[in-house]
Amino acid sequence: MAGEPMNICVLGGTGFVGSALVNRLARDGHWIRVPTRNPVRGEHLRVLPTVELVTANVHDPGTLGRLVTGMDAVINLVGILNEHGRCTFRLVHAALAQKLLAALKAARVRRLLQMSALGADVGGPSRYLRSKGEAEAHIRAAAAHLDFTFFRPSVIFGPGDSLTNRFADVLRLSGGVLPLARARARFAPVYVNDVAEAFARALSDRKTHGQSYELCGPQVMTLEQLVRTTAQAAGRRCLILGLPDPIGRLQAALLGVLPGKPLTLDNFRSLTLDSVCTDPGCERLGLTPRTMAQILPSYLAPPPAPPGGFTSFGVT
Ligand SMILES: NC(=O)c1ccc[n+]([C@@H]2O[C@H](COP(=O)([O-])OP(=O)(O)OC[C@H]3O[C@@H](n4cnc5c(N)ncnc54)[C@H](OP(=O)(O)O)[C@@H]3O)[C@@H](O)[C@H]2O)c1
Repeated sequence: MAGEPMNICVLGGTGFVGSALVNRLARDGHWIRVPTRNPVRGEHLRVLPTVELVTANVHDPGTLGRLVTGMDAVINLVGILNEHGRCTFRLVHAALAQKLLAALKAARVRRLLQMSALGADVGGPSRYLRSKGEAEAHIRAAAAHLDFTFFRPSVIFGPGDSLTNRFADVLRLSGGVLPLARARARFAPVYVNDVAEAFARALSDRKTHGQSYELCGPQVMTLEQLVRTTAQAAGRRCLILGLPDPIGRLQAALLGVLPGKPLTLDNFRSLTLDSVCTDPGCERLGLTPRTMAQILPSYLAPPPAPPGGFTSFGVT
């Protein structure tokens, strides 16, 4: 185990990345507090003996103050890809970061690991990226009383992701045909357990204080190649129709009003920026990130055919 066991509050610990990270930190013997709006979301974490699941509204400053009091470190993973009603990017990313900074200062907690995103920038092309950039700016401005570390991943894949699983589902439902916006946008997909490992390594490493780590997998690929890699692992047919930008924008506008918002105009604007690393953050943390080809079959591969030449209706 790396270092002494710590008391850690993981905001956003019930989600896709959070679940991998909380499991990883629990393996190191840390005691972990995970607030959630809905405890059902964190039910799978209850089996971990050092995890405390707390129903809480992290946007309430008093509640946030109580959650972080007595912690050695706080990890903020709270994030949304789409706005819903009053849950705007500003509120969930930038305003929450400000409230968290005030709570950390009052509770004299210095260590903060902040999940950001590649391309986060106050001048970025989408509200998502701008709000992530604003959160970073607030945190940098508080550096005098804070030992912060930023993590800026490309898209993240792994069991339970909403990337490869969603594409595999769409290809199944559409018979393999997929009209795709921004098909040439480039990514370096990174495995969720490698992201969790990056956080775990940085936690008690003083060299990471004040640093930013871009997290990418070893392969740069276009969105089209990402979908094809997913289709291959899932055993799906795949015919991709790359959409010119004006049609892609229209597709995003239409899909953005459907339940579940499969693609929004803000997502489209994020896709106008390549999501690839300029700095090998994983390697700086001593990590060798894994490829999609190594991992996808473990959760997307179709079940093997039954033995004995069985076909439909039992006719061989
Ligand atoms: N997945 C990716 O490909 C990717 C890539 C780059 C960066 N990121 C960033 O990584 C972080 C985690 O992403 P993820 O994929 O794990 O997301 P996720 O599965 O959707 O989980 C989001 C987490 O944030 C919490 N949350 C969401 N909306 C909230 C709100 N309005 N108020 C309070 N808490 C809220 C949820 O807690 P509840 O239990 O309360 O629901 C949940 O634990 C996010 O900051 C995201 O921007 C993800």
